[in-house]
Amino acid sequence: MSRSRWRCAGGALLWLSLVGLGVLVSALLIRTYTLQERRRAGPWQGEGVRGAELGELERGQLIEALRGEMQRGERGHLREALRGAIRIPTVSFSEEEQNTTALAEFGEYIRKVFPGVFSSSLIQHEVVAGYSHLFTVRGSDPSLLPYMLLAHSDVVPATSEGWDVPPFSAEEHNGYIYGRGTLDDKSCVIGILQALEFLLKRSYKPRRSFYVGIGHDEEVSGHKGAMKIVAKLQSQGVALAFVLDEGLAVLDRVIQGVRRPIALVGTTEKGSITLKLTVNRAPGHSSMPPPETSIGILAAAVSRLEQNPMPNMFGAGPEGAMFEQLAGEFVFPLNVMMANLWLFSPLISRILELKSSSNAIVRTTTALTLFNAGIKSNVIPPSASATVDFRLHPAQTVQEVLDIVRNTIRDDRVELAVLKAFNPLPVSPYDEGNFGYQVLQRTIHAVFSDAPVAPGVCIGNTDSRHFVNLTNSIYRFTPVVLKPEDMSRIHGLNERIAQEDFERLVQFYYQLIQNSDADKVPTSHRTAHEL
Ligand SMILES: *[C@@H]1O[C@H](CO)[C@@H](O)[C@H](O)[C@H]1NC(C)=O
Ligand SMILES: *[C@@H]1O[C@H](CO)[C@@H](O)[C@H](O)[C@H]1NC(C)=O
Ligand SMILES: [Zn+2]
Repeated sequence: MSRSRWRCAGGALLWLSLVGLGVLVSALLIRTYTLQERRRAGPWQGEGVRGAELGELERGQLIEALRGEMQRGERGHLREALRGAIRIPTVSFSEEEQNTTALAEFGEYIRKVFPGVFSSSLIQHEVVAGYSHLFTVRGSDPSLLPYMLLAHSDVVPATSEGWDVPPFSAEEHNGYIYGRGTLDDKSCVIGILQALEFLLKRSYKPRRSFYVGIGHDEEVSGHKGAMKIVAKLQSQGVALAFVLDEGLAVLDRVIQGVRRPIALVGTTEKGSITLKLTVNRAPGHSSMPPPETSIGILAAAVSRLEQNPMPNMFGAGPEGAMFEQLAGEFVFPLNVMMANLWLFSPLISRILELKSSSNAIVRTTTALTLFNAGIKSNVIPPSASATVDFRLHPAQTVQEVLDIVRNTIRDDRVELAVLKAFNPLPVSPYDEGNFGYQVLQRTIHAVFSDAPVAPGVCIGNTDSRHFVNLTNSIYRFTPVVLKPEDMSRIHGLNERIAQEDFERLVQFYYQLIQNSDADKVPTSHRTAHEL
């Protein structure tokens, strides 16, 4: 073949690949920008408030109204209500050990601080399982399916060590209230009841009935509080339009490459397996050891688990939709990549693996948490045991993970015992027609300056997981803005909330309750035109 023909072929190839590249680039860009377009602000936005069915003021105006209406005294009351709640050490030490004195005191406390809630003829209050609380708020239109707001009163332990102020002091510094429970989850308990108290004071009567559930053992499983509340509602044949519990939040610069605060609503939460591994061998003197002891066998097994992480499942759960919906919020070139997961998902899934926080989103995680073995320095250990904590990606089941574990260990001398296990929670709907998700989105837009809303995965577990039989629409969202430095305060040192953030949290529930009075999601203009 002559040189010129080579050049010609080369030229054609170059030309073709240029055309190909051009087509590809246009496809990527078109998807990037049409997706942004599609990530509209939800069916309620841009149409104003339609008719009397929504009843209230325009988006945002309500907030201002509440701000204006909230007198100095009320704002002071709000702050003191939270501070008083923080001072009661409602600690859950374990499933068996809780500070029941404090839990009882907490019950007295809310009666005292929210007299309107406890005396209203619209509201029925019941104590469940000794320390949990169930409020039934009767709406005027029994044809509307009720919804439920959840929060929990117990907290994880905290000692003064490492804290700048004692953890149950509720001290104020620079506009922040410090203390265990300020983020998880007493702000929500007090926030929901305070919003209700304000509404009652303004003679508000809901159209749609709703429940408020305050669990008392969320931090140690919710087996007593939340589960009893569920059993009670289920025995009455209650079905719920949606459930809102704590969970994800408005994240400000927490996700790298995202330019402004974004609201993530948890539509599922990871499953969990607590697995105990045991190796038993004949004991003996260490002067004549066998080639492997129980410690060596078990160490090799757990090491294999650590060296062989569970498969990367990026895109198989709602995390794919999350990145796609937020694509337009990322800086270039991440925005193009997120909008074109069909091409870039292998690359993005690798990038997400690099940090433990994002790795937890793309796969079932494996954490070796306990290792016990040996009795004396010159005795062959008769037994060694280890505990592994797996957190399951929404697209995997307990059975699938256990199969992989057996395959990875491949050693019959290692006995496996499942101490505790549950599957990931079903993914709640987040489409344009879903009432709960859209009411949340509408309220988030109004209270958090139009922060974009996207579905997300809760890495931790909440009381709401016990509600799957009452509704398919379970959402996990704590109405606060979290910055990167706040993340470690939850269950950690110097947990705190800004007074302003707490006021906004109350406004969120205040508005959510009223927005939930709508009959249904309005059919959007866009859909009408497309038809
Ligand atoms: C339990 O709570 C009470 C207050 O309700 C408190 O006086 C007591 O110190 C707490 N106990 C523990 C072990 O934290
Ligand atoms: C849901 O209902 C089924 C059947 O009644 C029951 O077996 C299951 O335990 C319930 N799940 C929860 C979380 O309550
Ligand atoms: Zn919590």
